[in-house]
Amino acid sequence: MKHLTLPVHVLTLFAVCLGQQHCCYPDQYDLQETETGWSYGPVGGTSSYQGSRHVAYDFIKKKLAIEERTDSGGVRQYYKQIYDYPEGAHYLIMGTDCFKTKLTGEMKQHCIPGQASHLGSYVYGIGDSGLLVDSFLFHVKGNVTTHREVTRVGCLPVRELHTHLEPTDKTISVQAMTYVNVTSKVRDPSVFTPPVPPCPPRHEFTQNAQDLALLQWIEKKKREQRISDPPQL
Ligand SMILES: *[C@@H]1O[C@H](CO)[C@@H](O)[C@H](O)[C@H]1NC(C)=O
Ligand SMILES: *[C@@H]1O[C@H](CO)[C@@H](O)[C@H](O)[C@H]1NC(C)=O
Repeated sequence: MKHLTLPVHVLTLFAVCLGQQHCCYPDQYDLQETETGWSYGPVGGTSSYQGSRHVAYDFIKKKLAIEERTDSGGVRQYYKQIYDYPEGAHYLIMGTDCFKTKLTGEMKQHCIPGQASHLGSYVYGIGDSGLLVDSFLFHVKGNVTTHREVTRVGCLPVRELHTHLEPTDKTISVQAMTYVNVTSKVRDPSVFTPPVPPCPPRHEFTQNAQDLALLQWIEKKKREQRISDPPQL
């Protein structure tokens, strides 16, 4: 009997190691994300926001669409972004306005980064309906600490927590995300369709969508945008 024990342990160890792999999300997925965040700092004081997102990701056709609704102290915003890699275009749609910029480089596959450490595995729920998840910890751009949970089967996102300390203005911020209604295909591919009518020529930029000045400008526009007063065209 004794000689049977070892293979079982080896098998268990093997299974545990397999589960800790740094997996990638499916090549196609569609999900709803609810997000809540707050920040505190001596300069900006406290602020908080709530938001929801619809994300459609297609690594085969190389397209990504993100629709976002946020509420920050009663200021509601809606915007949509389309990343179309084959066309080399990024669209930002806010209310009735739209902006087109260049998109260069390769689309990134959404994965648990190689340097992430595995914190543990656990089950939500009970019995056969329980959901086994793996939890990972990693740092993005040095300062944002990310806790990410993905399902063992299928590598689908479940929850995520970002914490960040900005050393220059001593601001700390926290963002918590929950992913629901996740499917491993895009529910409605029309989310990737570029805006009709197209963005006005003066809102078509030759800069890259990753251009820092452009990103800051987009962030500013997003903060200014309110659902109640669409921008003038
Ligand atoms: C990260 O922290 C470094 C200093 O530790 C700072 O210079 C840099 O601006 C920070 N980056 C971000 C994105 O907060
Ligand atoms: C998730 O799907 C259910 C059932 O279709 C729907 O009622 C619910 O509104 C969806 N949740 C979100 C956050 O979209």
